[in-house]
Amino acid sequence: MSIVELTEEHRMIQSVAKEFAETEIKPVAARLDRRSEFPAELIQSMAELGFMGIYIPEEYGGSAMDVFSYTLALEEICKACASTGTIMSVNNSLVCDPILEFGTLAQKEEYLTPLARGESLGCFALSEPAAGSDAGSIRTTVRRDGDNYVLSGTKNWITNGPEADVIITFATHDPSKKHKAITAFIVDKETPRLNVGKIEEKLGIKASSTCQLMFDDCYVPVRNRLGEEGEGFKIAMNTLNGGRIGIGAQAVGIAQAAFEESVSYAKQREAFDKPISNLQAIQFMLSDMATKIEASRLLVWQAAKMKDQKMNYVKQSAMAKLFASEAAMWVTTKAIQVHGGYGYTTDYPVERHFRDAKITEIYEGTSEIQRLIIANQLLNEY
Ligand code: CAA
Repeated sequence: MSIVELTEEHRMIQSVAKEFAETEIKPVAARLDRRSEFPAELIQSMAELGFMGIYIPEEYGGSAMDVFSYTLALEEICKACASTGTIMSVNNSLVCDPILEFGTLAQKEEYLTPLARGESLGCFALSEPAAGSDAGSIRTTVRRDGDNYVLSGTKNWITNGPEADVIITFATHDPSKKHKAITAFIVDKETPRLNVGKIEEKLGIKASSTCQLMFDDCYVPVRNRLGEEGEGFKIAMNTLNGGRIGIGAQAVGIAQAAFEESVSYAKQREAFDKPISNLQAIQFMLSDMATKIEASRLLVWQAAKMKDQKMNYVKQSAMAKLFASEAAMWVTTKAIQVHGGYGYTTDYPVERHFRDAKITEIYEGTSEIQRLIIANQLLNEY
C-alpha cells in the first residue's frame, strides 16, 4: 500500500471496482480472451456502476468523480481483464473527454450524456493505414458541402470500432498543410456509406475489438464538427495526453495481476526441497517486479492529479505511460519466468497478461512517441 492518501470517495470507487472485477470479470476473463468475445454484459454492468463516464459531470450523465478515481477503477478492471479495461478507457478518455472539453452544449446533450451513461459506446478514429505515429499526415479528406461536411478515407486500429455507436474522427482539408488543416468530427455510426472494414486478429486484448472504418463520401452535418475548423490536431493531442494516463493505469493493473500470480505460484511450487519463494533468484525477481509497479502507479497518480488540478501534465502523462507500459512488459515477462514451463501454457493466466501488456507500449502513442513528447517538453523547460 502506498502512503499517498486516498479520500473516502477514492477508497469507495477502488473497492467497488475491485469487488466487481474479482467477482464478475476475473472468472470469465480467460474464456473471453480465448474466444475473442466482446464482453457486452460486463460493459452493461459497468455502465450501471457509472464506470463509462467516471469523471464526466452528473448533468451530462457521468459519475462526477475525478481523473484520479478513474485511474483507480481502471487499474482494478484491467487487473482482471485488460480487454474490458480497454473498452472502458476508450469510452472515458478518448470519447467522453473531448466532447466534454471541446463540444457544444447541444453535442454534450446529444452525445456525451448517453456515452457517459453507457447507453451508447464510443470509439476514437485518428490513425490510418499510412499514418499512425505521424498523426499530422492523415489522408482522410473533408470538404464542405452546404450544411454538411463530406468525409472520405480509411481509419485503422479502431478499438471499439465494430460495436461503437459514435465515432470521434479527424480529417484534413489539405494534406499539404499537415496538422494545421485537420478538423475533428462526431460521427454517428449509422451514417450512410460508413463501413466497418477488416476486423483485426490480435496478439492480446483479444476480447476487445479493433477494426478499420471506411468513410466513402460520408455526409456529416456541420453541427457535428467538434471544435473549429483546423483545431482537430490540437483536440487529438489534448485527448491523447489524457488517454495516456489511462493506458498507464491499465499497464499497472496488468502488471499487478501478473505479480500477484507470481507470488502465489512461488509460495506453493517447490524445488530443491523448498518453496521457490525461498530462493533468492525468485525473490529478486519479485522485488524488482513490485518496485517497478509501485513506481509506475505513482507516476500514473501524479499525472492524474495534475490533470485534475488543471496543471500542464503533458510530460507527466507521457512519462507515466512510457514507464508503466515498459514496466508491465518487463513484469509479465518475469512472471512467466517465475512460473517456468507452466507460465508458457494457457493453464495459467500470466501468458495472457504478457500478451495484453504489449499493446500498452504501442497504442495511444508508442514508447518512442512518448520519448519524443518528453524530450520536447524537457527542451522547452530547461
Ligand atoms: N500536447 C499538446 N499539443 C501538442 C502535443 C501534445 N502532446 N504534441 C504536439 N503538440 C502541438 C505542438 O505544440 C504544435 O503546436 P503549434 O502548431 O501550435 O506549434 C503542434 O501540435 C504540432 O506539433 P509537432 O510539430 O511536434 O507535430 P508533429 O506532426 O511533429 O507530431 C507527435 C507530434 C507528438 C509525434 C504527434 O503526431 C503524436 O502524438 N503522434 C502519436 C499519435 C498517437 O498517439 N496515436 C494513437 C491513436 S489512438 C489509438 O491508439 C487507437 C485506439 O483506438 C486506442
